[in-house]
Amino acid sequence: MSNVGIIGLGHYLPKKKLTNADLEKLVDTSDEWIITRTGIRERRVAGRKERTSDLAVRSARQALSDAKLDPAGLDLIIVATISPDSNFPSVACLVQKALRADNAAAFDISAACSGFLYALTTAKQFILSGLYRNALVIAAEKITNFIDWNDRSTCILFGDGAGACVLSKVKGPRGIISDYMHAQGRFGDLMMVKSADREPLDQKTKTMQAPRIAMQGKELFKVAVNSMADAATVAVQKAGMKLDDIDCVVPHQANDRIIAAVAKKLGLPKSKIFVNIDKYGNMSAASIAVALYEAVKQKKIKRGSNVVLVTFGAGLVSAANVVKW
Ligand code: COA
Repeated sequence: MSNVGIIGLGHYLPKKKLTNADLEKLVDTSDEWIITRTGIRERRVAGRKERTSDLAVRSARQALSDAKLDPAGLDLIIVATISPDSNFPSVACLVQKALRADNAAAFDISAACSGFLYALTTAKQFILSGLYRNALVIAAEKITNFIDWNDRSTCILFGDGAGACVLSKVKGPRGIISDYMHAQGRFGDLMMVKSADREPLDQKTKTMQAPRIAMQGKELFKVAVNSMADAATVAVQKAGMKLDDIDCVVPHQANDRIIAAVAKKLGLPKSKIFVNIDKYGNMSAASIAVALYEAVKQKKIKRGSNVVLVTFGAGLVSAANVVKW
């Protein structure tokens, strides 16, 4: 029996840390408020000259080395990102060039914080169909490009980073067992980047406005909890398993209280839920990819573990996969 599985993992985090104490100097907030309301203590911020593709390439090299695969052996590169270097070329093409993965097709996926799982499920189909053998899936974000550093309700939440994995056919009862992708466009207004083409010119100053994240946090919180709990439940059912069979849940890291509420809804102990939001905040698509990398390195996920990856994001889009490690 063969399935599609993850045969290598990588990650990259920019060196610069932005702590809650640093944010206290920028906006009217406190370390205590941020920790209690979100669980975040610090996040990473990419350097001025560091682009999303730079983060992506570093995580990709580590994943390829972990998989012991030469870049020439890649047939497909998918990058999940909502913060590409520019509209085109795609980040995936920039990665292909940097790696000299000349035999690969390459494209980006835009599914906000659900991007990594959307990309994972997409890449899996290409391998299952027999069209491709080896795929590189990367989630990379320089989301701080879209932060309004005067808005205390959003600037405390986000950070930059990247995670990557190599997918290939694996033998035995392991690999990505089930997939679930969903979208609820009616909730699109709850979180968006107000893009320059909608309101390009500040009417007062007559200068171009930079695109910035706008969010209705409280409303988003409720939809997030329900969407993630629903997505995890469906993926576990599709895998022919019960929630009791799950050893580790790797959820999107948006807010520690959202994660706790999802665990409660699913009836799972928090000991089975992997959390690293305290160190990185919300890295959008990259959050799950980095969390998966760390959960494996910390041996929270071992050979044979039944793992649920589950996420939600702006759009609103949600997704989940069950993976047998
Ligand atoms: N520091 C101090 N006070 C803050 C603050 C900050 N950084 N941000 C907001 N506040 C204030 C508000 O102004 C409000 O004050 P008021 O009561 O005087 O009006 C108060 O704290 C409560 O604000 P509220 O928005 O109700 O807080 P909350 O408990 O809902 O927490 C979020 C805010 C953003 C942390 C929370 O709603 C959340 O995480 N939502 C989901 C966001 C998300 O996941 N986004 C990413 C999607 S992928």
